[in-house]
Amino acid sequence: MEPNAIDAGACLLRRLSPDDRPVLVEAFADPEIRRWLPTRLPDLDAASAYLALRAREWARAERYSWALADPATDELLGEVALKNLDWTGRTARLECWTLPRARGRGLAVAAVGAATRFGFDELGLLEIGYGHGERNTASARVARKCGFRLSHRLPDEVVIDGVPETIVVWTVTRLATMA
Ligand SMILES: CC(C)(COP(=O)(O)OP(=O)(O)OC[C@H]1O[C@@H](n2cnc3c(N)ncnc32)[C@H](O)[C@@H]1OP(=O)(O)O)[C@@H](O)C(=O)NCCC(=O)NCCS
Repeated sequence: MEPNAIDAGACLLRRLSPDDRPVLVEAFADPEIRRWLPTRLPDLDAASAYLALRAREWARAERYSWALADPATDELLGEVALKNLDWTGRTARLECWTLPRARGRGLAVAAVGAATRFGFDELGLLEIGYGHGERNTASARVARKCGFRLSHRLPDEVVIDGVPETIVVWTVTRLATMA
């Protein structure tokens, strides 16, 4: 599968590039992204290793990760991924973040919608999940706006910022998008 660009309207989904490294370091220093995602990128070397990992995962069909870029300037504004690809069950999980300065203008909804369509139409997936901490209200809004249905809560809490957090899982099926 080639990492072709996808026009998502509000943003362009394209492959991550070495030019994105300074913005990646900036993004993973953001308190909200650090709160909800485990990745830590303290410097440009860490960002290079991150790009290499994402390229390896794409080549091995383990995870498809796109940069969300400004359609006019190509500036990196976020990232969306289909991860945990299970080719037997034909399922995957979504992950997304956007830079603080790019939030609230529909980028995540556009990107998650485009990645979901790619998963169903190009990869032949049958179900896509989206998990997040229960207090992550922005994520819940994105999931609902993208047609996901609340599925279940994971039985074991995780500790985030020293506080126990329940992970909620939303799902959307290919059938539901065809209805
Ligand atoms: C969650 C996240 C990706 C949303 O990105 P975004 O680009 O701001 O999302 P959108 O602009 O598409 O907004 C989608 C909806 O969420 C709502 N929303 C955004 N931030 C919100 C907040 N802090 N609280 C409640 N709702 C919020 C928006 O209002 C919008 O709903 P509306 O159109 O009904 O008003 C972004 O806040 C983020 O990167 N958070 C940190 C990382 C993270 O939590 N990732 C998700 C875990 S996988």
